[in-house]
Amino acid sequence: MEKIVVVMPAWNEEENISRMIEELVDKEFPKIPAEMHLLVVDNYSKDKTAQVVQDAAKTRKNVHIIEQGDKSGLGWAYVRGFRYAVDKLGADAVMEMDADFQHPPRFVRPMVEAYLNGADYVIGSRYIPGGSVPKEWDFSRKFVSFAGNLFIRLVLLKPSIHDLTTGFRLTRVKGVLDKISLEDLMELDRFAYKVDLLYQSIKNAKKVVEVPLEFAPRIAEKSKFNAKEMISTFKLAIIIGIKDKQRFIKFGIVGFIGFIVNYIGIEVFRRTTFVQELALASGGLKNIAGLNILTTPSSWSAALGAEMAIISNFSLNNIWTFKEKRLTKVSEIIPSFLKFNLTSVGAVIIQFIVIGFSVLVFGDTSLVRLASLVFAIIFLIIPYNYSMYNLFIWKTWKLPWKVGKH
Ligand code: GDD
Ligand code: MN
Repeated sequence: MEKIVVVMPAWNEEENISRMIEELVDKEFPKIPAEMHLLVVDNYSKDKTAQVVQDAAKTRKNVHIIEQGDKSGLGWAYVRGFRYAVDKLGADAVMEMDADFQHPPRFVRPMVEAYLNGADYVIGSRYIPGGSVPKEWDFSRKFVSFAGNLFIRLVLLKPSIHDLTTGFRLTRVKGVLDKISLEDLMELDRFAYKVDLLYQSIKNAKKVVEVPLEFAPRIAEKSKFNAKEMISTFKLAIIIGIKDKQRFIKFGIVGFIGFIVNYIGIEVFRRTTFVQELALASGGLKNIAGLNILTTPSSWSAALGAEMAIISNFSLNNIWTFKEKRLTKVSEIIPSFLKFNLTSVGAVIIQFIVIGFSVLVFGDTSLVRLASLVFAIIFLIIPYNYSMYNLFIWKTWKLPWKVGKH
């Protein structure tokens, strides 16, 4: 049978905890087709929380308590609890649950069932059909909770998940929890750690399921959540969101630098005699091809500028964007650079033609070269690069004649 440990941080919850043990452990657990355990993580409560649990554990084999040591805060309580559940109790899955009945015990069973049906990560969600927040909450409280969730959903770009701050979740140990370096989670001394833990968990989990949760009002004792906790939660979501998109952002910055290099390259080459000689030498081809784009120095400047951008993009992406995979050996850099050139050669040709054609029609000025470069990049080079990347680098598209082959 699967062993599931409900980890329940409790801090000054004397009034709630004994009733919770009766409702959850005595009434709810026997209905669930798994080996269920409750692990309370106390934080040296000033009241009798610890004593109540210790007494209950005497007569129940599946009730456990640990004391939170030197580091306090909700995140650390869970880290301690998860470690104990996995290392000492041998849990297959762990749950996060509050001690104050805001997560009514009857919602544990559907969460476990989702797990037994193959979910790796189960989220008790207030914002899906069937889920709710307390009707006792006033409008502003409901609004803050809903808008806050929407905001985090947007910054993390996780539209498929509806409740990102819920405190009621189930996590498979193998492949999900055991891949997370728990002690390195951010903001462990605050409620905000929840966002980091969620982010890491959904990265590892193959199947994520949301199960409705009717979040109940708190009856006894006081909530420990406050504005400070809320602000740190938003801050952490933004940090994680940026970190997550870092590579994409770097890629964009490198592309922009490439554009500057490209334009400066065009203007510098345009002022050299080298491109004039290239244009002159192509004069012989003129009669054959009948194209005077070939004899236009600006076309050659554009092609050389494009090549400089290719070199700049390749180098910056290698040393910065993809620095974890940085190539250092010349024997690796050269073939990879040649391959990059092969996929980028279209950009050189596009610039040669578009800029050459534009200066012939609109006049050979810096402004025409800049405008035609911007036009070429937006309407031709970006779509071209995107297609080449999909075809040859990421291999997400298949050429028609390759469809069906592996
Ligand atoms: N051990 C320990 N140490 N337990 C703590 C600590 C702590 O520092 N702080 C809070 N707890 C326990 C409480 O005793 C309770 O069982 C649970 O953690 C949740 O604390 P509440 O004070 O009831 O928080 P809340 O109801 O306002 O916040 C709920 O909503 C948040 C936002 O949606 C919780 O479900 C949070 O987990 C959730 O992030
Ligand atoms: Mn609560």
